[in-house]
Amino acid sequence: MKQMLECIKQNALEQLASLSGEASELEALKVRYLGKKGELTAVLRGMGKLTPEERPVIGQMANEVREIIEAAIEEKAAELKEKARAAKLAAERLDVTMPADMKELGHRHPLAQVERDLCDIFLSMGFDVVEGPEVEYDYYNFQALNIPENHPARDTQDTFYITENILLRSQTSPVQVRTMEQQRPPIRIVSPGRVYRSDAVDATHSPVFHQLEGLVVDKGITMGDLKGMLETFAKNMFGSSTKLRFRPHHFPFTEPSAEVDVSCFVCGGEGCRLCKGEGWIEILGAGMVHPNVLKGCNIDPDEYSGFAFGLGIERIAMIKYGIDDMRLLYENDMRFLSQF
Ligand code: PHE
Repeated sequence: MKQMLECIKQNALEQLASLSGEASELEALKVRYLGKKGELTAVLRGMGKLTPEERPVIGQMANEVREIIEAAIEEKAAELKEKARAAKLAAERLDVTMPADMKELGHRHPLAQVERDLCDIFLSMGFDVVEGPEVEYDYYNFQALNIPENHPARDTQDTFYITENILLRSQTSPVQVRTMEQQRPPIRIVSPGRVYRSDAVDATHSPVFHQLEGLVVDKGITMGDLKGMLETFAKNMFGSSTKLRFRPHHFPFTEPSAEVDVSCFVCGGEGCRLCKGEGWIEILGAGMVHPNVLKGCNIDPDEYSGFAFGLGIERIAMIKYGIDDMRLLYENDMRFLSQF
C-alpha cells in the first residue's frame, strides 16, 4: 500500500510537471487523483483490510500524499493563471505612440456662431435675449411701428402676406412692440431671428434672412447712450480700434434715425476690397424710439425715452469673415463650412 501511495504521488507530480496548457487539463488531473472516484480515494477504501497497527501509519501517509498533490496542483494553477494573464496583456498591448485616428468634429454654422457672438456681447452688457413669432400680425410688423396702411415705407419691404392681417415678419422690429406691451421700463433686450422679404436671390439678398433687434427704454435715455452702447458693441465685435459713423436716415419708428457705419477693420479706414474703397462699412440702422410707438404701447413719451437698432446677421457674418456671396451661407457646402 505504501508503494501504491508513493507511486500515485510520483505519477501525479510527474504529470503535473509535464502539464503545459489548459486549466481544463489541470481540473481533469485533480479529479483523477483527488476526486471521489480518484486513485487516492480508491487506496484509502482499502484501508479496512489493514491491521490496526498499520492503519494510522498508512492513513498519515495518505494524508501527506494528498497534501503534497494538492499543493502541487495549486502551485500549477497559479502558474497557469499567471501565464494566461501575461498572454492576455501581450495580446492587448497598446502602442500609445501610434498616430491617432482623428475623428472629425462638427461645429456651429457661421451664421449661428455670429448670432451667438452678438447675443453674448449684448448679454455681457446687461441685455436680455427674447424671441418673437415669425408669423406676425400686420399690426406689430407695421401699424404699431408707426407705419400705417398705404404708408410708402411698406413698399420698401416687399412683404409675404398670409391673410390681409397676417404676414411673415419683414423685420425683427415687431418684437420691440411685443416687449413694450408686456414689460414696463426699464427695458433692455435684443431679439435675434428670421425675417422674410419677397426679394430675388443674389449675392446680397435672400427672401429669408436674419436680423437682430435691440431696444432700450428707460427714463432719460438719449442718443448719447445709443452711441456709447453701439461703440462698445462694435469694439467687441470688430476690434478695439473700431470707430463709428452715424449718417442721418429715416425709419418711421425712430426719430431721429441713423444708419451706422464702422471703420473698416481690414484697412483701418484707408480703403480696401472689403469696404470697397470707402474705409467705412454700414452695419445697422438705429434711432430714438418714436413717441408714437411708445404711446401705442402705453408708455408715456414725456416720462420715458428709448433707442432701438436693427442689424442683419448675414451682413455681419459676411463682413466679419470676408464672405462675398450670401448664397454660400445657405448652400451647406462642406468645403465652405469647414473653413470656419
Ligand atoms: N427694422 C429696420 C430694418 O429692417 C432696422 C431698424 C431697427 C432701424 C430698429 C431702426 C431701429 O431696416
